[in-house]
Amino acid sequence: MASAKRQPQTPQAKKTETDGYALVLKGVKKDYQMGDSQVHALRGIDMRVKKGEYVAIMGPSGSGKSTLLHILGCLDVPSNGEYFLDGDDVASMPDDQLSTIRNERIGFVFQAFNLIPGMSALENVMISLQISGREEAESRKIAMHYLNLVGLGARADHTASELSGGERQRVALARAMANDPAFILADEPTGNLDSKTSVEVMSYIHRLWEDHKVTIVMVTHEPVVARYSQRIIRLKDGMVESEERNKVFYNHDGAHIDEKSIKLK
Ligand SMILES: Nc1ncnc2c1ncn2[C@@H]1O[C@H](COP(=O)(O)OP(=O)(O)OP(=O)(O)O)[C@@H](O)[C@H]1O
Ligand SMILES: [Mg+2]
Repeated sequence: MASAKRQPQTPQAKKTETDGYALVLKGVKKDYQMGDSQVHALRGIDMRVKKGEYVAIMGPSGSGKSTLLHILGCLDVPSNGEYFLDGDDVASMPDDQLSTIRNERIGFVFQAFNLIPGMSALENVMISLQISGREEAESRKIAMHYLNLVGLGARADHTASELSGGERQRVALARAMANDPAFILADEPTGNLDSKTSVEVMSYIHRLWEDHKVTIVMVTHEPVVARYSQRIIRLKDGMVESEERNKVFYNHDGAHIDEKSIKLK
């Protein structure tokens, strides 16, 4: 009788399984040890994001959104499960490889902007390019290009502390895009902004997504912000509770567009 035992998958089989997907998570768990007790922040997440897709993650406070985003961004590793980023198995990679992936492939946008206050907008964008090994002159040129794309060319010399919240988040967006990443991960990018400024920042994110076909995963509490994405994944208690497609979503002008009009890469 043939054995019912599952055969281990070959690397080729894995490759086919992850083809066309920017991110594939299988049974991802994350536990934190807090003194004597364990917090089960993620309890087995299965998730796939296509290349060039724009996904929003929603869910109540404490449901594991930031934990998931940290794992997606290789800032943390799962306690269990598999994670393939662009087909590469990252769950088992050593720290130095993870930091290379973070620098070269991922752009982060956080709620608190995370800019260096005393540095100019230009320097804040240049710094990540120089960390990636680019010369100063080239870094300056690329940084200016992205600051212009987010409408801040004229503010390049202002220090971060002299900029408004919306402007700071646009600098953070320019910084995230400057290394030409495959993924943008955003954790509540409009969390510290009023509604008018949120719309402005979302428009810029949308424009960059449309023009660069970057993959975006964005955590948000705000339904109106989630409507800029193509798909909403809802978490509850560390699990995926539900998923829905935004059949119609906002574009960079805040106009409604049909999902059929968007082509993935
Ligand atoms: N470093 C940590 N150590 C221990 N527990 C943690 C840690 N980080 C997160 N947790 C716990 O894991 C759970 C998920 O936290 P997480 O920050 O992912 O939630 P969230 O969905 O992002 O919430 P919020 O909407 O409030 O930002 C929570 O119960 C939280 O207390
Ligand atoms: Mg959070």
